[in-house]
Amino acid sequence: WWPQPGEAGPTERAGAMIGDVTAHISAQPGDIAETVLMPGDPLRAKWIAETYLTDPVCYSSVRNMYGYTGEYRGHRISIQGSGMGMPSASIYAHELLAEYGVKTLVRVGSAGALAEKLQLRDVVAGIGAASESSMNRMRFEGMIDYAPVADFGLLRDSVDIAEQQGKNIHVGQILSGDVFYSERPDLYRKLAEYGVLAVEMEAAALYTLAAKFDARALALVTISDHLVHETHLSSEDRERSFADMVEIALAAVTK
Ligand code: ADE
Repeated sequence: WWPQPGEAGPTERAGAMIGDVTAHISAQPGDIAETVLMPGDPLRAKWIAETYLTDPVCYSSVRNMYGYTGEYRGHRISIQGSGMGMPSASIYAHELLAEYGVKTLVRVGSAGALAEKLQLRDVVAGIGAASESSMNRMRFEGMIDYAPVADFGLLRDSVDIAEQQGKNIHVGQILSGDVFYSERPDLYRKLAEYGVLAVEMEAAALYTLAAKFDARALALVTISDHLVHETHLSSEDRERSFADMVEIALAAVTK
């Protein structure tokens, strides 16, 4: 069997389910909240759940990619690690959106600054995500440069909250790269000239999948390294700035 044009492919047809659970998340139906924060690092997922949620329950530890559900100020929230890069993040986002009824996904991660004006610890909200990934080229048959964009309401709420909390936030385009150790500084310089603020590795895939499943997505990233100034955050500063960003995300999704 092979799908005819316009017909669902094997994964969509079979729903990627193994019994009641998906291939990469061992949660039962109903275990995951409609709103999910997604850090790349599963230990950050654990830290967010244990620091901010009341009564957090771990619903999946498949491949140690932890997922937790708990309450934040009376709202049911889940936190799911995504892993690094678009192939990994897409697996978790797809299963959350297609099988667990997730409606809001907020990435909370780190990024490298491409724009001179950014400082370490600044938060960037990605209004759109350019990408070097071939995923959307394949998806749109090489014909369309699809523009993955953030949900406007989530973006607006995050910016309002960051400003109320006195936190530095920039809104702009980000690059979702496939390579952490890039060998293309000239390309990064050119992207900065064209308004791309920072490079991370997941947002374009999350924005695209959220659109496909009629859900909302936003990527918030803190600047952990600066590619122009060649500076990096210490591990204590990383933790503090990560917490600042998580507080913006939690306030925005529970507004
Ligand atoms: N995340 C944090 N720093 C990054 C970088 N330099 N490139 C890609 N993703 C990142």
